[in-house]
Amino acid sequence: MDNRWTLTAAVGLVVAVIVAQVNCSSSSLKRVTKAQVLGFDWKNCGQPDDPAVLKSLNVSPDPIAIPGGLTASAAGSTSVQLAAPLAVNVTLEKEVGGFWVKVPCFEEMGSCHYRDACDILNQLIPPGQDCPEPLHTYGLPCRCPFKAGSYSLPQSSFYLPYMDLPYWLTNGNYRVQGVLGSQGKELGCLKVALSIHSN
Ligand SMILES: *[C@@H]1O[C@H](CO)[C@@H](O)[C@H](O)[C@H]1NC(C)=O
Repeated sequence: MDNRWTLTAAVGLVVAVIVAQVNCSSSSLKRVTKAQVLGFDWKNCGQPDDPAVLKSLNVSPDPIAIPGGLTASAAGSTSVQLAAPLAVNVTLEKEVGGFWVKVPCFEEMGSCHYRDACDILNQLIPPGQDCPEPLHTYGLPCRCPFKAGSYSLPQSSFYLPYMDLPYWLTNGNYRVQGVLGSQGKELGCLKVALSIHSN
């Protein structure tokens, strides 16, 4: 996966997790599987010949603190250009009482299918506007198309702001899987596990 998605995993994910949890009622939590204890971890989960792969991803501290500083670095590559329409299927799970519970999709957050991530990026960062830091500094792209090649984000610092949410909503262990595809072909798959601690 390229860097824009790496960033999504490292930073946007935390926000997505939180928003998803706000919108998540226990009555809609149905699918459960046995959970294991874990900290931050990641892996590519696609076919060996998937064109988009992540090569490294480092995030600290572990658990991630909210509010607090976050340091992340990442590298990845794609052997094909990633262009619209770029479908993304996200599966988000939270550990609840020792089991992994799938967080349903609600208002575009949680375990959702996105038909075109390029479209979403264009809405978040209108064409013509500079890419947000630290992408801009390192000359990394933030909109489609993403050219074939290698991308890397050197160690960068972020700040995760205080959010007015009950701690039990954000505290805990999460797993997220993202599958990237275009025109029926899988391009890449990434799984990330992380723990969040909020005060
Ligand atoms: C996303 O899920 C839908 C429904 O299961 C499937 O048709 C589609 O191929 C999936 N897309 C990707 C990129 O995995």
